[in-house]
Amino acid sequence: MQTALFKVNPEEIDQNLIDQAAEFLKIGETVAFPTETVYGLGANGLNPVAVRKIFSAKGRPSDNPLILHVAELEQVEKIVTSIPDLADLLMQRFWPGPLTLVLPKREVVPAEVTAGLETVAVRMPAHPVAQALLRSAGVPVAAPSANLSGKPSPTRAEHVWQDLQGRVAAIVDGGETGVGLESTVLDLSTSEPYLLRPGGVSLEELEELIGEVHLPAEVDKAETPKAPGMKYRHYAPEGLLWIVEMASGYPVPTAEWLRLAQEAIANGQKPFFLLSQETAQQIPEIPCITIRSFGSRQRPEEIAHNLFALLREADKEQATVIYAEAIGKTGIGAAVMNRLGKAAGGRRLIL
Ligand code: TXA
Ligand code: MG
Repeated sequence: MQTALFKVNPEEIDQNLIDQAAEFLKIGETVAFPTETVYGLGANGLNPVAVRKIFSAKGRPSDNPLILHVAELEQVEKIVTSIPDLADLLMQRFWPGPLTLVLPKREVVPAEVTAGLETVAVRMPAHPVAQALLRSAGVPVAAPSANLSGKPSPTRAEHVWQDLQGRVAAIVDGGETGVGLESTVLDLSTSEPYLLRPGGVSLEELEELIGEVHLPAEVDKAETPKAPGMKYRHYAPEGLLWIVEMASGYPVPTAEWLRLAQEAIANGQKPFFLLSQETAQQIPEIPCITIRSFGSRQRPEEIAHNLFALLREADKEQATVIYAEAIGKTGIGAAVMNRLGKAAGGRRLIL
């Protein structure tokens, strides 16, 4: 398949290009597009044949449901059976934005989107290019992150191109995404709200508005994971990723990083260090070792923004082992540590 590429400036949207990309969605093809979180791979969410193309392009397991993206609130009423007061409150405060709500679905939503569940995940993205595309397409657009299944989510069109070129009809390049990791997924289909995935809207922000939210740890213990997607290997670079932290909770001292570096080299590894700016500054240049700062510990938003691109860079450098510094779990730091945890497959070095 030939993949068409549309370059659209988010500050000065070329409607003609948007309409051309939307045309692919209307005829049941797949289009990757930027959102404020990560790039999504979209298809007409009411067309089961189109939705199946998303799964085959990504190599995604069919039991992992998709998010429907909308540009207007009226579209939500057409795909969910009711909007509880809590949902209404959250939409008013956080939409458009990086919050996905799981609600009971209407019959029009195909089983391909929800993996057979009776609920559907809905989100209104804030990115101007996403909004323009959704408006022009005129339908809810099903879209997972636009990476090959298992790879870090794309934050730039070039990441999408690397993974999906030749496998999708079109890619809309709207530059780098803002948040850098995916939306928060909140289940409102039961009597109490459950956080299924931490993301762009923090738990603190949610609880400030709606009171207690049940946590993913409680969900993880359940036999059937509530967010089916959370059980798969995710975001993983080729090299073996380790999260490194001190048992005391204090930042890992420079001497420990240097020791890890020396050990890795002695073992014939090609190490890649993913460190806070504060730590990276302390470490001298060492031959054969790549040291990257993912941002300041004081600014977890910056770390969220940079994380996935750096995991892809580790692959490009053919790193065989990646050591990532743990950061605090407040605000979006919780989502950063969740993604690092998945990428590491739970591997932790506690010093
Ligand atoms: O920021 C984002 O959310 C990006 C952009 C493109 O919007 N999309 C994204 O989609 O991350 P995806 O497919 O990679 O993740 C969707 C998550 C998965 O963990 C999935 O299991 C969960 O949402 N999910 C979708 N529908 C659900 C449902 N009905 N019930 C529970 N979880 C659901
Ligand atoms: Mg994904």
